[in-house]
Amino acid sequence: MRVLIIGSGGREHALAWSIAQSPLLTKLYVAPGNPGTAQVAENVAIRTTNIGGLVEFAVEHKIDLVIPGPEAPLVAGIADALAEKNIPCFGPSAAAAALEGSKTFTKQIADAANIPTATWAGFTHALEAHEYIEATGAPIVIKADGLAAGKGVVVATTPEEAHQAITDIMEDKIHGQAGARVVIEECLIGEEISIFALCDGETALFCGAAADHKRVGENDTGPNTGGMGAIFNPPWATPEIIDESMAKIIRPALAEMSRRGTPFKGFLFAGLMVTAQGPKLIEYNVRFGDPECETVLPMLKSDLLSLLKAATEGRLATVGLEWHPGSSATVVMCAKGYPGAYATGSEIHGLDEAATQQGVHIFHAGTMAEQGGILANGGRVLAVNATGPDLRAALSRAYGAIATIAWEDGFCRRDIGKRAL
Ligand code: AMP
Ligand code: GLY
Repeated sequence: MRVLIIGSGGREHALAWSIAQSPLLTKLYVAPGNPGTAQVAENVAIRTTNIGGLVEFAVEHKIDLVIPGPEAPLVAGIADALAEKNIPCFGPSAAAAALEGSKTFTKQIADAANIPTATWAGFTHALEAHEYIEATGAPIVIKADGLAAGKGVVVATTPEEAHQAITDIMEDKIHGQAGARVVIEECLIGEEISIFALCDGETALFCGAAADHKRVGENDTGPNTGGMGAIFNPPWATPEIIDESMAKIIRPALAEMSRRGTPFKGFLFAGLMVTAQGPKLIEYNVRFGDPECETVLPMLKSDLLSLLKAATEGRLATVGLEWHPGSSATVVMCAKGYPGAYATGSEIHGLDEAATQQGVHIFHAGTMAEQGGILANGGRVLAVNATGPDLRAALSRAYGAIATIAWEDGFCRRDIGKRAL
């Protein structure tokens, strides 16, 4: 098969690394890719939002399967545009991608399908939102309706913070049109997990659970980021919790989307809170998580490409998934200053040596290659994954690899997985 992966982060390097091992693969492209994907595939200089350019490339190069990594091309309709050319795409249509693109839509689906989630109200007028906050008090969660680069959610601990969030989002429009509507919801208490399902429109197959570490600082302090590290199957994701989540949160959403005539195909990612009343939905994403993807895929024993092929052919009900024993952890190395302003262009040494260590996989996220060397070129720069017989071993291997990477302008959290241990 000739495959095109879309994206340039650590998630796409992990997808490319996994798919490159498939016996079904004959040629792998990544657009635009990074120096890591260049080790296992051919990079193509087309931006992830250039839908026309990507479709044209897929047609010209006789691509058999397109795998979009990030949400932006999905929300922009890449799956629909490829369908017009009869090119299979493992990802949802623009209509089904609304599960991530609009928080109001997510809550409406949850209500229609009786999916456990935080109680909520939607607003298009700031005054009414302020009144609702006055009436309910805090803690309370304020969410811009549209995509806001992961920065659209404010967990307000006081009414003042909640009012400020409404002012910022609805009146000062800090996220532009994404904040024209807001969802205000109950603050859920518990432990978070990300669960992943492969979906073919009708059938959902469980494809791993992970715990992300969203805050930039140790002990979960400081601002939110795209994710500073992840661990595979955290102890609070028990088999019972996974089964309940698949039964009450993933499968009903799939059935509701199908009932509406917009079946969901692709990776369905549910962010959940494991509360005293069981798992409750925080949000859906219509793609794999990052750095969760880099954490889950090294544990997958089954051939990913044949699974994705089965999904695009509507055959998921006939296949199963196998896992390697043990555990997996990923620590993200970031440029100093992230998630605020950071410098690019500093040199990173020791990557080859780190990559040869037992169980270690170095996934590139924001790097560039120059004169044989690797330079930092983003906020999240490297996702350092390791597998091992258990979580403690995986973490110790990941931090061991980090110790051999020499990068003065980088940092990472030293406490990934600490709560799980
Ligand atoms: P999101 O940008 O939707 O991933 O949300 C960012 C983070 O906000 C989540 O990972 C949660 O930690 C937190 N969050 C979102 N909704 C809620 C909620 N209803 N209750 C508690 N925390 C929440
Ligand atoms: N790591 C969380 C996400 O990919 O949205």
